[in-house]
Amino acid sequence: KRLILIGPPGSGKGTQSPIIKDEYCLCHLATGDMLRAAVAAKTPLGIKAKETMEKGELVSDDLVVGIIDEAMKKPSCQKGFILDGFPRTVEQAQKLDEMLQKQGTKIDKVLDFAIDDSILEERITGRWIHAASGRSYHTKFAPPKVPGIDDVTGEPLMQRKDDTAEVLKSRLQAFHKQTKPVIDYYNTKGVVATLPAEKPPKEVTAEMQKVLSS
Ligand code: AP5
Ligand code: ZN
Repeated sequence: KRLILIGPPGSGKGTQSPIIKDEYCLCHLATGDMLRAAVAAKTPLGIKAKETMEKGELVSDDLVVGIIDEAMKKPSCQKGFILDGFPRTVEQAQKLDEMLQKQGTKIDKVLDFAIDDSILEERITGRWIHAASGRSYHTKFAPPKVPGIDDVTGEPLMQRKDDTAEVLKSRLQAFHKQTKPVIDYYNTKGVVATLPAEKPPKEVTAEMQKVLSS
């Protein structure tokens, strides 16, 4: 399957991705995770993206399209993929269509993580991540077995620099202005399934599985 996950910051994209990834053996491409890795490694790409990400704004279309174009060439992504956090502008969606057209494939489903903005601050400010894998935890909703420690690797967890109430406001603004139109773009193609992202994680997973098996 070729899937896109769209939703505002904190809507649960990164939480649900590994579950479908395991179930359908797909590659999981999260542009936010890839950009954070580039920032941490201080690559030329990371140096360009750092400030924009810390402000909660979108990095340039060319930059992320380049990352995705490169990543999709991996053999593990040929049978199918989950795009988490991409495309985020109509321009990115059009570029993706061009890439897929060249391969003679197309998107099967766009999962729209629908949720009210008011719920997101608590989710974002309570989040802790394992930087290397992108695994998300939450102090209240999904606590790790040992506070501050990743369940799988035993490595320390950290908070994202953009996970403050202040930066969340810009991220939400970018979502409504630039990413909402992407949902409309895919609606015209009839591939969007809306998920009740405000429900507990297990219920969201169940809804997602229902959509994907139909
Ligand atoms: P990115 O990393 O994609 O961040 P985002 O879109 O803001 O999304 P998040 O990762 O914050 O949310 P999520 O939906 O994954 O939430 P999660 O599952 O972790 O992008 C970061 C930045 O990179 C952007 O601002 C931009 O600068 C740049 N960028 C990335 N892609 C780009 C692109 N294509 N174009 C341009 N720029 C780009 O859950 C959040 C928390 O809630 C966790 O603590 C979790 O445990 C908890 N939780 C999850 N589900 C539930 C639930 N159902 N109930 C209760 N708690 C829950
Ligand atoms: Zn995420």
